[in-house]
Amino acid sequence: MSNLYKKLFAGIYDPFMNKLEHRFYDYRKGLLKEISGNVLEVGSGTGINFQFYNNNVNLIALEPSPFMKKRAELKVTTKLNVEFLINKINDEEVEKRISDKSLDYIVCTLVLCSVDDPEKALVKFHRWLKDDGKLIVLEHIHSENKVNKKLQDAVNPVWKKVADGCNLNRNTDVLIKQNGFVAIEEEYFQSSIRFHSGVFIKATI
Ligand SMILES: C[S@@+](CC[C@H](N)C(=O)[O-])C[C@H]1O[C@@H](n2cnc3c(N)ncnc32)[C@H](O)[C@@H]1O
Repeated sequence: MSNLYKKLFAGIYDPFMNKLEHRFYDYRKGLLKEISGNVLEVGSGTGINFQFYNNNVNLIALEPSPFMKKRAELKVTTKLNVEFLINKINDEEVEKRISDKSLDYIVCTLVLCSVDDPEKALVKFHRWLKDDGKLIVLEHIHSENKVNKKLQDAVNPVWKKVADGCNLNRNTDVLIKQNGFVAIEEEYFQSSIRFHSGVFIKATI
């Protein structure tokens, strides 16, 4: 993807999400308001979640797009202790920065649909979390409805190109459980886009 495309994507992200946020807002708020300690947010984008963190959070915001990160910086308030890493989750630099069993929470909202190798990332998450650490995921997933599922498969090759690598047809909920996580809270829901199914999962290792 060219830098011009990445810049445009960062510019339209918030206005586009504002139309869908009524569906996600309560999940984000509910999942994030009580977390504390060492937190890694993967794919922090334009910092849409920053408003929900309290001042007991030491946040590492991992975001490969400098254009997204620039917008996120505008949402950093004085109460938020944040360090930005301009990297992808599977980059060596991230491995060097984050020690095993050092994180209290890992937050992934609408990002495991886009990461290049989600299983590899989940194996790392498992290693980086403390024994009582938690993974928090809010994601759209492959629908259970046969028609919607086919629609997602059909649209995916084009969608992936226009939506910065986002896949409509990942079974992220299954992947999480196959990679050593145990769900302690989960809820499936229909997003405002008709064929979009969503899930939130709070999981322990
Ligand atoms: C759809 S946006 C979600 C942004 C934000 N988390 C939210 O909830 O609105 C996906 C973000 O993940 C980032 N991303 C894509 N691939 C990534 C990777 N391999 N590692 C980390 N972040 C990635 C993108 O740059 C983008 O900012």
